[in-house]
Amino acid sequence: MEHIANISDIEPGGRLSVIVDDTPALLIRTNDSLYLIEDVCSHDGQPLTDGPIADGSIRCPRHGARFCLQTGRALCMPATQSIRTFAVEQRNGEIWGG
Ligand code: FES
Repeated sequence: MEHIANISDIEPGGRLSVIVDDTPALLIRTNDSLYLIEDVCSHDGQPLTDGPIADGSIRCPRHGARFCLQTGRALCMPATQSIRTFAVEQRNGEIWGG
């Protein structure tokens, strides 16, 4: 794992673009959880950065595929392949992931 941010960098409901394992990734903070997902849609490479988040999933802004924040699984067409997800944890105010 690598140090990717501090908890003070991201408010509940916020998101932060980071690089993890040389991969563009999106750190998402909900009221009770942190998620770290690959920020590249598996359908056609669109960044998911600004996609709407609801019900534990993020929707690709380009064609509307949704991905589970926890597992990266593609939940609807047009995506059929998962995106990567990374382990993420908070340690003394620091966020580590990878
Ligand atoms: S690029 Fe994401 S749904 Fe097509």
